Amino acid sequence: NNQPLVAPSVLSADFGDIAAAIDRIEASQADMVHLDVMDGHFVPNITFGPKMVADIRKRTKLPLDVHLMVDNPESHVDAFIDAGADYITFHLEAVTHAHRLIQRIRDAKVKAGISLVPSTPASAISELLEDLDLVLVMTVNPGFGGQKLIPGCLRKVTQIKTMFEGASPILLSVDGGINRDTVRAAVSAGANLLVSGSAFFRAEDPAEEVRFLKAALSS
Ligand code: DX5
Ligand code: ZN
Repeated sequence: NNQPLVAPSVLSADFGDIAAAIDRIEASQADMVHLDVMDGHFVPNITFGPKMVADIRKRTKLPLDVHLMVDNPESHVDAFIDAGADYITFHLEAVTHAHRLIQRIRDAKVKAGISLVPSTPASAISELLEDLDLVLVMTVNPGFGGQKLIPGCLRKVTQIKTMFEGASPILLSVDGGINRDTVRAAVSAGANLLVSGSAFFRAEDPAEEVRFLKAALSS
């Protein structure tokens, strides 16, 4: 079916009880676990590193979607590969040799993704079409959960979807401000992977929340 995948982000969970957060994600029928790594340089906030990813790896079989919001991701990808990441997404704005880093990730049999902040145009990845497993379009400025989606970013989702027509299918992910009010627009624009932090962890019934996000276009 054409329903989008859903990846709850533990950024909005209680870090003092991360096991409960993973159990909540598992119980919700979500498709992946989204893990936001922030270094206090590329973005103003600081979260966690490879040890947290390795510890979460032991608690779930769900794919781990690691989103690196760090400077010099080249210096860190090996640690996240060893930690058991299934997808590693880094920011185009943080590297010069994006192509080389994608190859390194793929050589380790891990899926490679690139993320773009709101001010980076879709055309910035036009030379990487054959090399990517995932593109993550930030729909807020990265750093914090609970922000409002920037509507103009959805145009970029559609542009990227169009760019990839004819290339092998990829995951086209949107991250930031995805909730019941914005999900239809995000999926209509072409997103097939929805990251949800605050909406998922605020929901009274997480399974119902995931069902709602997935059914955005079918209802
Ligand atoms: C923000 C992170 C997001 C964050 C999204 O920089 O990349 O993954 O968790 O949170 P919400 O869904 O609350 O906007
Ligand atoms: Zn993220």
